[in-house]
Amino acid sequence: MAYRHFEFIEKHAWTLGILTAVMVSLGGLAEITPLFVQAHSVKPPANVKPYDPLRLAGRDVYVREGCYLCHSQMIRALRFETQRYGHFSTAEESLYDRPFQWGSKRTGPDLARVGGKYSDEWQRAHLLDPRAVVPQSNMPAYPWLATASVDGTDIAARMRTLRTLGDPYSDADIGGAAKAVQGKTDLDALVAYLQGLGIANEPQPAQTAGTSPVPIEESSP
Ligand code: HEC
Repeated sequence: MAYRHFEFIEKHAWTLGILTAVMVSLGGLAEITPLFVQAHSVKPPANVKPYDPLRLAGRDVYVREGCYLCHSQMIRALRFETQRYGHFSTAEESLYDRPFQWGSKRTGPDLARVGGKYSDEWQRAHLLDPRAVVPQSNMPAYPWLATASVDGTDIAARMRTLRTLGDPYSDADIGGAAKAVQGKTDLDALVAYLQGLGIANEPQPAQTAGTSPVPIEESSP
């Protein structure tokens, strides 16, 4: 008798369905709402700058070619990851990434801090023919990047759009975009993008103290 109301809910599929939806929504809101508040409190550290025109073009090539399908750009706060890739990734680092390239699929290594790991020449050779530098590689070759040129007007338009979303580009930055990418190929742009990954943005110890997780010791491999 005491459970009659539960029995009513359980025997009426619509009531059960609607109440379940209400409970799931409440749970979802409790998880999601704090993130909206948090998003406004993520402030750009001084060394995190919006992409310059060439690197912005390179980022577009990265997205267009689907590099994210095999490469993540998020180093997790686990010891074996930080030992291999460097400092774990922080939210501030992706402030100007729209959309971010975190990912979880790693056919190839994480690229969050690949900038400066190799020379520009190595990166070019690797993109044109990965097996020329890493014989066992199964990464595809991207030879067409060397002949496609970057469209300066297009990049300026992208910067204007990003400014409406809050990226602090000045009129001079946008005005100079076409000149900055003049004569550059998609390959030049992609290499510039890769060489900046994690370098410009690497968090300083003081910035991350208190706001980011401490690397956790992994118990099993
Ligand atoms: C089919 C999966 C796949 C795709 C797609 C792919 N890669 Fe790779 N990538 C790999 C693998 C596997 C390796 C490791 C072997 C090697 O170095 O070639 C690698 C290695 C790399 C490295 C060297 C990383 C390091 O730390 O040694 C860079 C840089 C890189 N890829 C960039 C790119 C870029 C840029 C693109 C898109 C144009 C791309 N990859 C697309 C699989 C892929």
